[in-house]
Amino acid sequence: MDRGQFVLDNLTTAVLWFDASLRLRAANPSAEALLDSSARRLVGLQVDQVFLDSDYWLSILNWALKTRRPFTERELTLRRIAAGEVTVDCSVTPLSDGEEGLLVELAQVDHHRRISREELLMSQHETVQLLVRGLAHEIRNPLGGLRGAAQLLERELTDPSLKEYTDVIIGEADRLQSLLDRLLGPRTVPQKETVNVHEVAERVCKLVRAEAPEGVSFSCDYDPSIPDLQADADLLIQAILNIARNAVQAVGEEGEISLRTRVQRQMNIGHRHHRLAVRMDIIDNGPGIEQHMVEKIFYPMVSGRADGTGLGLSIAQSLIQQHGGLVQCSSRPGETVMSILLPLENTE
Ligand SMILES: Nc1ncnc2c1ncn2[C@@H]1O[C@H](COP(=O)(O)OP(=O)(O)OP(=O)(O)O)[C@@H](O)[C@H]1O
Ligand SMILES: [Mg+2]
Repeated sequence: MDRGQFVLDNLTTAVLWFDASLRLRAANPSAEALLDSSARRLVGLQVDQVFLDSDYWLSILNWALKTRRPFTERELTLRRIAAGEVTVDCSVTPLSDGEEGLLVELAQVDHHRRISREELLMSQHETVQLLVRGLAHEIRNPLGGLRGAAQLLERELTDPSLKEYTDVIIGEADRLQSLLDRLLGPRTVPQKETVNVHEVAERVCKLVRAEAPEGVSFSCDYDPSIPDLQADADLLIQAILNIARNAVQAVGEEGEISLRTRVQRQMNIGHRHHRLAVRMDIIDNGPGIEQHMVEKIFYPMVSGRADGTGLGLSIAQSLIQQHGGLVQCSSRPGETVMSILLPLENTE
């Protein structure tokens, strides 16, 4: 194999060569992967048979041929005939030496965008958690002082009717204390042991089934090939429970909630690469979460419910991050998917 061919075959950018009549002459392996078709099938096709949106492609390629000027477009949505949409950076270069035609290069960018979104989610969570922890610690000490002083005062009171007031102080201090405890989150280091994801999922299912109204149905779709992972089962249960409870609250009296597990290969969680990970989706058919809220629901004290403290998801996120994982959300009316990603082996 000549060196040029070797380089082309190993490029991650998809390279397509069209001749002057816009017929495909060659495609490298990355182009085959991107278009989900083989070079044998693709070569010889006209550009409008290679891509959907043929008007767009005909106009830019003809323009490049005519003007002999290169063309670049960032974050172009490429609609593929065989396989859905992807976002690509596209550049078109007119050829002149020997062969007339055009070189089209397509670099997939979805992947990069997803990584940076995940990194943002993780770092946002860390920042907020730090702030909240700092504040909670600052409140904790004077609160203890207030409660102690109220107890001392109570002992000194001779008029029993005044005890009502010290009771209020102590009661409210206790309420605030338990809020602080939840805000600070679990303080224990995860006690990792060998855990079967499906046993954990079943435990959660049992618990929420018992709490949910009769009209709410549950279904499970497990991937039996998922190997055991090293985790703290109690903490995982707590995290999944917080998410599943939200789903129950979202659907109200009637609805469907399903739990789905899948193995994910070669996946990035934040900036770490994992060869193997498990994804657990908790899906409900409730009203969904508005787009501007999806980014915020993992913050502590953000709640859309009148009686919610807004801590459930923030705690779930902390617990999953303690396991090197991440909780993500995607939502549209009628389908909310909360995905828990957990690495199945040591990070690379
Ligand atoms: N599956 C879902 N469908 C619709 N909205 C959801 C869903 N999950 C979460 N939410 C929204 O996100 C908000 C934050 O959830 P979170 O669990 O953090 O707090 P909460 O449920 O309000 O209170 P807490 O869990 O502390 O009792 C919820 O109030 C709700 O508005
Ligand atoms: Mg909740």
